[in-house]
Amino acid sequence: MLVKLEKLIIGFIFAFSTVSTAMAGGEAEVLHWWTSGGEAKALQVLKDDFAKKGGTWKDMPVAGGGGDAANVTLKSRIVAGDPPTASQIKGPTIQEYDEEGVVAPYHIHAVAKAENWDSLLSSQVSNHMKCDGFTKYCAAPVNIHRIDWFWANKKVLDSHGLKMPTSWDEFNAAASKLQSAGIIPFAHGGQPWQDATVFEAVLLGIGGNEFYHKAIVELDMNALSGPTMVKVFDQMRKLQGFTDKGMPGRDWNVATAMVMNGKAAFQIMGDWAKGEFSNAGLKPGVDYYCLPTPSDHGYLYNVDSFIFYGMKGKSKIDGQKALASSIMGKNFQKIFNIYKGSIPARLDVPMDEFDMCAKGSASDLKYSAMTGGLLPSFAHGMALRNAQKGAMQDVITEHFNSNMSSHEAARRLADAIQASL
Ligand code: BGC
Repeated sequence: MLVKLEKLIIGFIFAFSTVSTAMAGGEAEVLHWWTSGGEAKALQVLKDDFAKKGGTWKDMPVAGGGGDAANVTLKSRIVAGDPPTASQIKGPTIQEYDEEGVVAPYHIHAVAKAENWDSLLSSQVSNHMKCDGFTKYCAAPVNIHRIDWFWANKKVLDSHGLKMPTSWDEFNAAASKLQSAGIIPFAHGGQPWQDATVFEAVLLGIGGNEFYHKAIVELDMNALSGPTMVKVFDQMRKLQGFTDKGMPGRDWNVATAMVMNGKAAFQIMGDWAKGEFSNAGLKPGVDYYCLPTPSDHGYLYNVDSFIFYGMKGKSKIDGQKALASSIMGKNFQKIFNIYKGSIPARLDVPMDEFDMCAKGSASDLKYSAMTGGLLPSFAHGMALRNAQKGAMQDVITEHFNSNMSSHEAARRLADAIQASL
């Protein structure tokens, strides 16, 4: 009898505690664009962590690399006065939404203070996450992706006696050789955000760190229209010549698959591409190569983050707090980033379980931060507001998909930026 009663009490306590944690977790409708194999695998780690905290996740995926489609859906939800609990959003767009008044009163700031996020993040990353004049946390970072990468099929390169290129001239020579041998040198998806991704890596390499800062961050008209920019467009034209007929509209992960299966040799893409290689069980240095695109120790960063909108209702606010806490969890950031291809945003996550590409990324990031080469990716929304980003992207895409001269493209780039300001 006594034993039965004891069991009953324990059962009651257990039931009560699970119910109370479930309530503590709250609910979260999360809008995101992580739908490729590697992305979905990484996202599952977040979903599981949130569920462990008792949270109920309502998935709102909007497919489309780079998030262009997701951002359109998000905008319309916000305009309709019905924002999701949280959404993927990056860089200055975080502050743009705050200015629209949909982010206050910053429910997650209390979590950030209690967990001391200021001490866990670099100030560069933490500033991106803040609203209300950069004073309150309104977003949480999951990672740091690097944009300026070459991914290459090892067998293809080895069998043609080629090494990973360390200059753009070397790349052009290797690509020409492969093309003559009937291999597609450059796997590319003809979508504006992918064109812009390639463009900024080329610009960083050909122009250098200072030029990148002048042209992309300061939007300096002379840099935008000058002779260095002409050279950048010249290299873009060469790259166009190394693509195949299937390029228009191709998704980035389809291009990555072409490199994986040896149909193509190279891809220029952020390290979410590595998430695809890993998801297919492939290993760097064994099946594929990763190497930063040629530059003077530049590093184009892209921080994925989730923004939390102003909400009413305890369950949603609890959901935001629990999700923000999950995102900044130390172990979560390790596992998630191993799958995602990126490196942790938190500074205290040990890197020993990461692969050689991620370890290289982490040490390059430190070096570039000390030497002026750590620069925000414009193609992935870290450098510019939407109007300027769009203006730049349009010219790059128009040039890439036509026979526009490099001079004309540089002139149009400056004009488009001028008109967007
Ligand atoms: C995001 C990545 C994502 C990629 C492709 C980038 O803008 O930062 O997380 O994997 O787009 O969709």
